[in-house]
Amino acid sequence: MDLPSPQKAAALSRKLLGWYGAHARELPWRAKPGDKSAADPYRVWLSEIMLQQTVVAAVIPYYDEFLRRWPNVQALAAAKPEDVMAAWAGLGYYTRAQNLIKCAKVVANKLGGEFPSTEEELLKLPGIGPYTAAAIAAIAFGRPATVVDGNVDRVMVRMFGVERPVKEAKAEIRGLAEALTPGKRAGDYAQGVMDLGATVCTPKSPSCLVCPWTDDCVARERGIAAALPVKAKKRAKLTRVGAAFWITRGDGAVLLRRRPDKGLLGGMLEVPSSEWRDGRFAARAYLKEAPVAADFKALPGLVTHTFTHFHLELAVYAARIDGRKANGNGHLWHAPEDLEDVGLPTVMKKVARLVGGVS
Ligand code: ADE
Repeated sequence: MDLPSPQKAAALSRKLLGWYGAHARELPWRAKPGDKSAADPYRVWLSEIMLQQTVVAAVIPYYDEFLRRWPNVQALAAAKPEDVMAAWAGLGYYTRAQNLIKCAKVVANKLGGEFPSTEEELLKLPGIGPYTAAAIAAIAFGRPATVVDGNVDRVMVRMFGVERPVKEAKAEIRGLAEALTPGKRAGDYAQGVMDLGATVCTPKSPSCLVCPWTDDCVARERGIAAALPVKAKKRAKLTRVGAAFWITRGDGAVLLRRRPDKGLLGGMLEVPSSEWRDGRFAARAYLKEAPVAADFKALPGLVTHTFTHFHLELAVYAARIDGRKANGNGHLWHAPEDLEDVGLPTVMKKVARLVGGVS
């Protein structure tokens, strides 16, 4: 695939910047289009970490709450990790929150509270990969860095008629996206392409009639915009199964525990559960894995949840263990009225909901 000439690329980025000036979404972490006072790097970093794999609408309430509680990187670095993890609960991909804490500490304690401004230096920080490094360099520091996310992938394959799955065309897409990135206003340009992908060049039924690039778009000309990107064959997700143990005391308190830092839902609170295994559900075999021996009753229904790589089905067993302690470290009793706010990840909220423990 030929790259566009520099003249053509400049004309395209000018059109896009014009469109962004008129149609940019107003988002709480954004400077206005063309605003010379660049956006605050802390806000850009926080928002971009939250926006990884997560849509804007889901991020906004979390972003607002984080900024209210921890208005700058020093405040976040000094926060109790369990408070940050609890504030992140429900947003998913919890490694992001662990890295957020690590990164805040490096910036506050080793870099004098200033985020670096180059992609190369940003990439050295915990939780910052190529996408986020480019986004911060462009949006917060105005550097001509090229941001490539799912929206940019889709816009590029349509614009240039790339009829291969995105996974197979990564290098080509990057080359095209770099060719279009302007030397000035790269932050506005990056956000413009992302906004275009989110609001006009949408996955299904793109609104080509209002697209600033409609006359330049190869997929539009061929009539295949909605059919691109070509889908790669997906591997079927397997289902894992397990049991969750809803254990209460005489005063109604519920037993929770903190998961190990490494692995899925790392560092988050959970309703104690068995190992989650591939394969068929072997019902009461799971009771051996309960944190205490007790007279467990199986509750009707199953909790189902889908993670990135597998579906999960949890059976829920309930028991009362008046006056006895649970074994093992990391177990904590929580009053039932606190369960809504202790920071349970979504799958564990579903467990609590099945039991009637939260609304
Ligand atoms: N998705 C991720 N980051 C974004 C941003 N800064 N603007 C619009 N969409 C985004």
